[in-house]
Amino acid sequence: MAAGSNLKVGVIGYGGIGKFHLQGWLNLRDEGVTLGAVCDADPSKWSVVEEAYRGIGPAPAKEGFLYTSVDDFVQNSGCDIVSICLPNFLHEPVGVKCFDKGMHVLMEKPAANTLAGAQNIVAACKRSGKVGAAQLNNNYTPTYELAEGMVDDGAFGELQSVSGWWVRRNGIPFYGQWFGIKEKSGGGPGIDLMPHVLGWLLGVMDWPKAKWVSARAFDKAEPGAPGYGPYGGGSKNPGGKFDVERRMQSYAQLENGVTMNLEAAWAMHIDQERMGFRLVGSKGTLAVERVWPINDGDDAKAIDTATYYTTREKAGRPWTINKSFNPDTDPSTRDAFMGRTKTQPEMLAAIRAGRAPKTSVDHLLAIQEVIEASYNSAAAGGEPVKP
Ligand SMILES: NC(=O)c1ccc[n+]([C@@H]2O[C@H](COP(=O)([O-])OP(=O)(O)OC[C@H]3O[C@@H](n4cnc5c(N)ncnc54)[C@H](O)[C@@H]3O)[C@@H](O)[C@H]2O)c1
Repeated sequence: MAAGSNLKVGVIGYGGIGKFHLQGWLNLRDEGVTLGAVCDADPSKWSVVEEAYRGIGPAPAKEGFLYTSVDDFVQNSGCDIVSICLPNFLHEPVGVKCFDKGMHVLMEKPAANTLAGAQNIVAACKRSGKVGAAQLNNNYTPTYELAEGMVDDGAFGELQSVSGWWVRRNGIPFYGQWFGIKEKSGGGPGIDLMPHVLGWLLGVMDWPKAKWVSARAFDKAEPGAPGYGPYGGGSKNPGGKFDVERRMQSYAQLENGVTMNLEAAWAMHIDQERMGFRLVGSKGTLAVERVWPINDGDDAKAIDTATYYTTREKAGRPWTINKSFNPDTDPSTRDAFMGRTKTQPEMLAAIRAGRAPKTSVDHLLAIQEVIEASYNSAAAGGEPVKP
């Protein structure tokens, strides 16, 4: 694709996350990208589109721009690129249709609600020859990029163990709606939050495979236990179906010799919402964490920290050296949007250069293989499972 040629982009689904895709693509309007169509089955979501245009100008007229049917959008919008921000069970059917129509696709995580669905998406991408990018947005944050650079610089020596966590107190999204219904979502935090954690850990190691996985899923909650909070705009149906886990723990041995620990919780007794990762090597350890000190999910108040621990020989004695990257003094560690508007420029660059994007649907499939093995292990009481 020649640099500068005009590309028409569309966004399918703009509930909770689609607004970041609208924003990310609109940020590229001076770079030959036109937001040419949007699609959402719920006409009341139009206000999200209007909001995305605030400060830019009026939203386009709905005629020929707003589609409420996916099939109509795929057949008639004429888009070159599409972001798919639909509930998990719609990723596969819509993703396959978009690739088959010849569109480049930016897919929200997870790939799909099932492993077979994820495999079909990757097969459709390969058939089409188009770019299949993944919204693994946390792989674009300053603290993740810091870790990537440190791995490249050999800061860890022999990398031995990696851990990642995303644990919330009151973080069940849309309680009683699609997120908590297994056949629609594919699972709870194990498929909702785990992709971010796996994106970090596998990504920083250049995507090693897991040899085996052992996991447990927990769904018991005492009366009054934490539950739904601000996620999904607080929208909830307390009487609705909820048949997924509230918390999941997974442990894996990887083919590169590294051990990996994962923890994901929507609702857990803990001081505050925390997400982070730790890389432990023979030369040093890096601990990265984002905490939400006031309310779960209030990104504007989240605090990022990153500290590297190592020992150096100086004047004949070993010194412990801790280097902290603190957002108060080093604003480069902050990204309030958690990388959610950085995947679009990366995908555009990949399309223009005819190269693979930094995070792709293949990576989503690699993540889903570990997740599927984790659910299979959990169903077998934690027995080790080969992905
Ligand atoms: N990367 C991230 O940080 C992040 C954060 C939240 C959600 N997500 C992912 O984004 C996806 C969407 O999550 P969400 O929180 O935005 O969900 P949501 O329910 O808020 O939004 C989904 C939108 O899709 C629309 N929709 C549903 N069925 C449709 C259909 N058949 N045709 C057209 N439109 C339809 C709904 O009206 C809604 O506006 C999920 O896969 C989720 O895992 C990612």
